[in-house]
Amino acid sequence: MYREANGREAMGYFATKPTAIITTLHDSGIVNAGVFGAYTNLSPSQIGVATSVKSDTYNNILSRGEYVINIPGAELAGKLRILASRIPPSKSEVEEAGLSLKEGLGLSTPSIAECVAAGEFRFEREVEVGQHSFMIGRCEGGWIKERYLDKDGKIDIFKAKVIKDFKYPAPLYVLPGEVVEG
Ligand SMILES: Cc1cc2nc3c(=O)[nH]c(=O)nc-3n(C[C@H](O)[C@H](O)[C@H](O)COP(=O)(O)O)c2cc1C
Repeated sequence: MYREANGREAMGYFATKPTAIITTLHDSGIVNAGVFGAYTNLSPSQIGVATSVKSDTYNNILSRGEYVINIPGAELAGKLRILASRIPPSKSEVEEAGLSLKEGLGLSTPSIAECVAAGEFRFEREVEVGQHSFMIGRCEGGWIKERYLDKDGKIDIFKAKVIKDFKYPAPLYVLPGEVVEG
């Protein structure tokens, strides 16, 4: 069961900043997907993503003004390699990886149905930094699979088995481990 969220309510899904899949829409209508680890929360409703200016994701965000940040569980780790490979914009990585699309809630860009959660973002501004641009967007809503929602409105990262890349570009990820109380 998918549970829908309004506005910044979906920001709770990114609290631990797990490795994400960003879906964007090419002008041809093809859905593009890339893997992203370098992103951070900037305010209660904004996230910035360091995005290579050579990526299709970057071009699509600029031309469509929207994108979806999807959070995969560990069972999709093998698919990330396909999504991160150089595939021309005329082909959809989502199809290549054998994943399926879920229609956008408030955006034209779909999310990835097999993911744990997804947030829809409206692009606000770009900060140029070398070969990357920091792409800042505002969260307008999203969804989470109900069984993975914790009592604080965030992902239950242990149940959902979200992953974090720790040796990029090597395709190695860690799972949430011990909790340290501070
Ligand atoms: C684990 C992992 C993390 C990555 N993180 C980023 C990132 O934060 N920013 C970025 O620009 N590319 C990152 N990449 C590389 C992109 O996924 C890759 O360049 C991809 O081709 C972009 O897809 P696109 O051209 O379809 O947009 C990452 C790749 C992997 C495997």
